Amino acid sequence: MEADAERESAEQALAATDPGEAARKRDPLRRMLRFYRTAKRTAWNIDDLPWDAEPPVPRHETERWNLLWSSVVQQQLQADRTAVAAASRLLLDVPDMEAKLYYSTMVQDEARHLEGWTRLAEQLQPVDGFSPYFDELSHMLFNSEMIEERVLVFQVLFEGCALEAFREISKATEKTILGAMANKLLIDDAIHHRSGVTYEEHLLARASPSLKRHLSEVLKKYTPVYIANLTWRPPVRRWLSRTLAEHDKYIVHRNQTLINTAVTDLGLKAPFDI
Ligand SMILES: [Fe+2]
Ligand SMILES: [Fe+2]
Repeated sequence: MEADAERESAEQALAATDPGEAARKRDPLRRMLRFYRTAKRTAWNIDDLPWDAEPPVPRHETERWNLLWSSVVQQQLQADRTAVAAASRLLLDVPDMEAKLYYSTMVQDEARHLEGWTRLAEQLQPVDGFSPYFDELSHMLFNSEMIEERVLVFQVLFEGCALEAFREISKATEKTILGAMANKLLIDDAIHHRSGVTYEEHLLARASPSLKRHLSEVLKKYTPVYIANLTWRPPVRRWLSRTLAEHDKYIVHRNQTLINTAVTDLGLKAPFDI
């Protein structure tokens, strides 16, 4: 750890005096190595969560709230099942050594998340919280052979928007195991998202105009399913639908804006007409 810190401060000192070094540091593959080192440094253990000190979720002794939070945990469990599979496939498929090293850390992160959701789910009432629309999005992702599509959809878009969801969960679940988990995921997924943006930049710099056009077309296929998933509620949370109708509209607009910005920043066509 100390050696890493020393190397990074030495690199910073070099970059300040050597413009060539500064340019090399901006190189996406060099940045992937930095994400690899950061991910290793910030890796945590699921036993670090307050399993014996805090309640699993807010108001867990009330049946209605226990079921509500249980369905939130199930949805996160569903998402991280996809994340483990998507990260593992990227680890096997990416051609660059720097990216391979980075994805080796991401597979471990996503497996740890799945471990955490599985343990947390055990402490709550069982409930069906899996979204059929998320399953559809996962199938679309798994059916793609294009690394450019998988990094863009999974890390740049899904994980970018998931950060906002974790912020909301974290605010509503202070002093619970779920809250502690959300805070850990905010750190991990910020790295997953930023590394995805970086690697996508590297991939697109080598992509043909026709591949970029194809990617823009492909995104249009994801968008209706994505919005259907965003506004879907499991049966145990349907009683909130009317109360949260305005909030739902805000979330849809916020995520559409986030996605359009992330996609256009990469030089691709915005998928949402807003
Ligand atoms: Fe995850
Ligand atoms: Fe992630």
